[in-house]
Amino acid sequence: MRYDPSAFREQSLDRWECAAKGWGEHRAVFQAAAQPVSRWLIDAISPQPGHRVLELAAGPGDTGLLAAELIAPGGTLISTDGVQAMVDLAQARAAELGIENAEFRRMNAEWIDLPAASLDGVIARWGYMLLADPATALSETRRVLRPGGRVALSAWTDPDDNRWASVPQEELASMGAVEPADPDEPNMFAFRDPATIRELLEQAGFTEIVVEQVDIVWRYASLDDWWDTQLDLSTGLAKGVGALAPARRDDLRDAIDARLAEYLAADGSAELPGRTHVASASA
Ligand SMILES: C[S@@+](CC[C@H](N)C(=O)[O-])C[C@H]1O[C@@H](n2cnc3c(N)ncnc32)[C@H](O)[C@@H]1O
Repeated sequence: MRYDPSAFREQSLDRWECAAKGWGEHRAVFQAAAQPVSRWLIDAISPQPGHRVLELAAGPGDTGLLAAELIAPGGTLISTDGVQAMVDLAQARAAELGIENAEFRRMNAEWIDLPAASLDGVIARWGYMLLADPATALSETRRVLRPGGRVALSAWTDPDDNRWASVPQEELASMGAVEPADPDEPNMFAFRDPATIRELLEQAGFTEIVVEQVDIVWRYASLDDWWDTQLDLSTGLAKGVGALAPARRDDLRDAIDARLAEYLAADGSAELPGRTHVASASA
């Protein structure tokens, strides 16, 4: 079947609404590993006191909340996500941190409900490649940035660089437990080729484009711990696994564990490497 952006958008937002509980539960562990990416993105937009900064697809909001501290006094963070349950997580986290210069809104990144040239910076960590229409979202991003304002984004590199995510997908597919992915459909590896990021930024009218890579490490007490976290973060994975008979689930785990054994320490703890593109550009 041909890729249908409207159907994808609706289903994707439903999936994210369901995943929000897990993203809240695992926020701290996720952010501990993802912090270097947040730092790169924040540095790339050079937040200054008084700036207005938008975070798109913010999930639990960690990256934008780092910016909020840097744009005080006088600056405002607008933390947004396409699903309300994620917006609620970000708002709760801001309250925990005592951050007062932030607004929280449900907003689809493809329709940015803000005036033209009204922002100094836009950040989206692991957001744009998941959208039904990333080109439109980037055009919208440029529209709301003032001349010279900067966008910063991240998107995963190759599946082989990110076996923590690709091995379960590959093993599920090889067991015939999930439909083969539609290559046109947005997915976490859709921007694996850095040329895709450059082209999309150029087409949206951005200049001074920088694309680099950042390595991260996911640390877990055990592979079981990692696996339970993955099932909570990815509704697609949970659905695929849930459809398997118990014995097949054991076969799946055995196959996955064998492929990830090299990342295990003697005490059973796991350090799974990941790699992401990080990019920034000027409006
Ligand atoms: C991989 S998560 C990343 C969350 C967060 N940026 C982080 O790095 O922790 C992707 C996020 O994109 C959001 N999202 C998906 N489609 C969206 C859309 N069309 N508009 C805005 N947000 C969207 C999801 O709800 C989810 O919070």
